[in-house]
Amino acid sequence: MTAGGVLQSAGDAAHAIETVTWVLFAGGGAIFVGVMLLLAWSLRRRARGVNTRWWIWGGGVAFPAAVLVALFAWTLPHTPVWRPTPPAGALIVTVKAHMWWWEVRYRDPATGADIVTANEIRIPVGKPVYLALTSADVIHSFWVPQLAGKMDMLPGRMQHLLVTATAPGTWRGQCAEFCGEQHAQMALHVVGLAPPDFDAWLAVQAQPAQPPATPALALGRDAFLAQRCDACHTVRGAGAAGQLGPDLTHIGSRPYLGAGTLANTPDGRARWLAHLQHIKPGARMPSYDRLDTPTLNAMGAWLGSLQ
Ligand code: CUA
Repeated sequence: MTAGGVLQSAGDAAHAIETVTWVLFAGGGAIFVGVMLLLAWSLRRRARGVNTRWWIWGGGVAFPAAVLVALFAWTLPHTPVWRPTPPAGALIVTVKAHMWWWEVRYRDPATGADIVTANEIRIPVGKPVYLALTSADVIHSFWVPQLAGKMDMLPGRMQHLLVTATAPGTWRGQCAEFCGEQHAQMALHVVGLAPPDFDAWLAVQAQPAQPPATPALALGRDAFLAQRCDACHTVRGAGAAGQLGPDLTHIGSRPYLGAGTLANTPDGRARWLAHLQHIKPGARMPSYDRLDTPTLNAMGAWLGSLQ
């Protein structure tokens, strides 16, 4: 887990932002020091014999104009290009924001079918990734500071970001547009993998869920279906095809629950199922605290087994 910030870029788009940030910081600092020195000098000399007209036009108009024009010319090539279609060879990942989680879709290179996951985006290092961004409800904003700048996610519109990870790692992202009660708990994680590891991961994601390997896991699956979790969630291969909540077919392989809210551990899954409305109030899933602990643990164990 890389806990870096904006100034530890791991992608080309973020690297451009980092460069511009440092140039602005250094340039702004140099100008501030220069102005302070001029101020000290003018106070000492009591401004006798100073050509005020020259300083006002030169320092107040010509100098800022020259600096701003130079900055504009220099930053223009650093600005992301608007591309209505993905460049050739880019991996296309569609991300749809929901209140308050992220639906992530890949295309299966073998069959062309959609591979759906949630709250975690894995990408191959060194390969351009075209993120097609939209929203199912209100305006959200996609922001993974170490990979790229922010991009709004608008209902009924497709925006995009083109990112290329330059090194393997895990980078935390966050919804960056206030979108309601749980905006703060709308995180996502992007994982950069070596291309062969990425291909292997995607091939697993394309598979349906493994059947329960033990009777205990089968009990968990049965409880999941008996509680009608399948009304909202899909688990391919387990008879669950709901479309309202995150796809759980491979939930066990994801590091977090609830868009970065809890670690995906046995304890985390049990707490999430029982006390969701206490942990993430307003989320579109009820707490199942009326269920007994063995049932909750069985459901959590089965979900954890969905690798
Ligand atoms: Cu989604 Cu803020």
